[in-house]
Amino acid sequence: MKLLGIMASSRRDGNTNDLMDVALQAASESGVNTEKIILLDYKLHQILNCKDCKEQGFCPEDDFPILKQKLIEADGILWGTPLYWYTVSGLLKVFLDRLCCIMYWDTPQHLLKILQGKPTGLIITREELEPEKSAHLIGTMEMVFSYEYCRLVNLGIVMGPGGSRGTAIKDAQAVAEAQALGRKFAAFWTR
Ligand SMILES: Cc1cc2nc3c(=O)[nH]c(=O)nc-3n(C[C@H](O)[C@H](O)[C@H](O)COP(=O)(O)O)c2cc1C
Repeated sequence: MKLLGIMASSRRDGNTNDLMDVALQAASESGVNTEKIILLDYKLHQILNCKDCKEQGFCPEDDFPILKQKLIEADGILWGTPLYWYTVSGLLKVFLDRLCCIMYWDTPQHLLKILQGKPTGLIITREELEPEKSAHLIGTMEMVFSYEYCRLVNLGIVMGPGGSRGTAIKDAQAVAEAQALGRKFAAFWTR
């Protein structure tokens, strides 16, 4: 089984990346194949008017087909995003928007086939630790996970402290929760 980590922080070596690595490492030690993609490393155009694009036979030329292929091949998806202005990072939002390209071009059934029933999880880092500050981000992602065409199975959400590099990795609770989330993927596939 393959777990794909989608790391959507603008810092390659930030707190989101650190907790993502912890979770993927724990999954790997439990026998799961893992791969991490850093969204920043991919050229992603923001979505255009996809229905018009379809009529004109046009699609933005970028790396989305590579990412789409990785989604198809993954058995589970672990998302990692910092809290940016009380919601997901722009990198992640652009990627989520582009999932509509799959729907418009390949029909909703195709997206459903790709994602339906796959286990998922979410890692968030943020500076404002009050739970309500992350409520919109969590609400958005939970709605994405339960969207009728791509019902994912949510294994859990880890919220770590952010700010300066190295903050989250020093937080024993966040590290333990990230490890536990990684192991949940292995448990899901061996249940
Ligand atoms: C553009 C931007 C917006 C941010 N907005 C928030 C916010 O609304 N609430 C918050 O608690 N932290 C906010 N932060 C802080 C980040 O969530 C925090 O530093 C996080 O750890 C960054 O992730 P990273 O360490 O993986 O780079 C923001 C940071 C940036 C750069």
